[in-house]
Amino acid sequence: MKILVSGSAGFIGFHLVNKLSFLGHSVTGIDNINDYYDVNLKYARLEHSGIDRQKIEYGKKLQSAALPNYNFYKIDITDREKLFSLFAEEQFDCVCNLAAQAGVRYSIENPQAYIDSNMYGFFNILEVCRAYPVKHLVFASSSSVYGLNEKVPFSVNDITDHPASLYAATKKSNELMAYTYAHLFKIPSTGLRFFTVYGPWGRPDMAYYKFANAIMKNIPIEVYNHGDMLRDFTYIDDIIEGTIAAIEHIPAGPSPSTDGTAPFALYNLGNNRPEKLPDFIAVLEQALNKTAEKKYLGMQAGDVPVTMADIGSTRRDLGWEPKTDIATGLKLFAEWFLAYKDTNNNTV
Ligand SMILES: NC(=O)c1ccc[n+]([C@@H]2O[C@H](COP(=O)([O-])OP(=O)(O)OC[C@H]3O[C@@H](n4cnc5c(N)ncnc54)[C@H](O)[C@@H]3O)[C@@H](O)[C@H]2O)c1
Repeated sequence: MKILVSGSAGFIGFHLVNKLSFLGHSVTGIDNINDYYDVNLKYARLEHSGIDRQKIEYGKKLQSAALPNYNFYKIDITDREKLFSLFAEEQFDCVCNLAAQAGVRYSIENPQAYIDSNMYGFFNILEVCRAYPVKHLVFASSSSVYGLNEKVPFSVNDITDHPASLYAATKKSNELMAYTYAHLFKIPSTGLRFFTVYGPWGRPDMAYYKFANAIMKNIPIEVYNHGDMLRDFTYIDDIIEGTIAAIEHIPAGPSPSTDGTAPFALYNLGNNRPEKLPDFIAVLEQALNKTAEKKYLGMQAGDVPVTMADIGSTRRDLGWEPKTDIATGLKLFAEWFLAYKDTNNNTV
């Protein structure tokens, strides 16, 4: 299959590109390489996929030196013109849209970035898929759409009308927009609600990465809601396996998670074994072989105390089962983190 992965310099996109190329798919990656977090990490991921940082120019096609069936363009999904000329040139079978302004807390500080990339950018993705029909549009949603829901585990059949952040509201909007395009223009679409993804090459703005950084620098870690949090931490390899299973499972008609006639589906990709935050921190301390100094704080605005995925329909339709426990996953993260930190003179 010829697959476009947007957000390919990002955490999940980078891993997805590598796996899809390994499986023999023809893959094009796009990313605007924005500076929401350290761009050096984004460039390091690109370099790891064989994309030479020095040769990157906006809108220019670059062939990977490491993966024969991977090429990359620096393109912003808010740039409608560039997106349309890319699709005219390449004719993709499938689009996996991971490009977005991620992060719950930053949406309080900089809401505009979410409207630009997640609303207008996503609208462009839908429009370009309408103009150059693809067999399947897969896109990243988020567990944050469950917002203030109290019933656990979170099921794709639950009502998700109470987002606790603008980030969550944009992800919920993406699901609605994609549903409409699936209904009106028969663009088969699948939304994936990822639950707190962690692992090597991860995101420095996420709690586990911040904890690792602080622990190694002897800075106290900030434990919100006094540690009274339950999270479905999901290892990156499991997420990639689930995403590829979703790419291959094109919805022919309505799925049990949605009413109506549209070829549209939603799936939870979560570990289904939520961890208490203090237990997660203890396993991270073990993996880093260092104890954290803890600073206990109240709940942060926009955050939710519990996430837990009901993966019944994901199991049934995609045959997906998360396999990695946090001891294994955090060990792999810590090994990568310590090596990456060393090669970057501790500036991570
Ligand atoms: N990591 C998680 O725990 C998690 C959880 C739920 C949902 N998600 C979603 O999964 C997707 C991937 O997340 P990630 O963790 O890899 O985040 P990430 O920030 O590492 O990756 C997103 C990439 O998209 C790029 N990007 C942002 N705006 C863009 C634009 N306008 N045009 C082109 N590129 C743009 C960024 O430069 C970045 O490299 C996102 O949509 C995110 O909201 C992630």
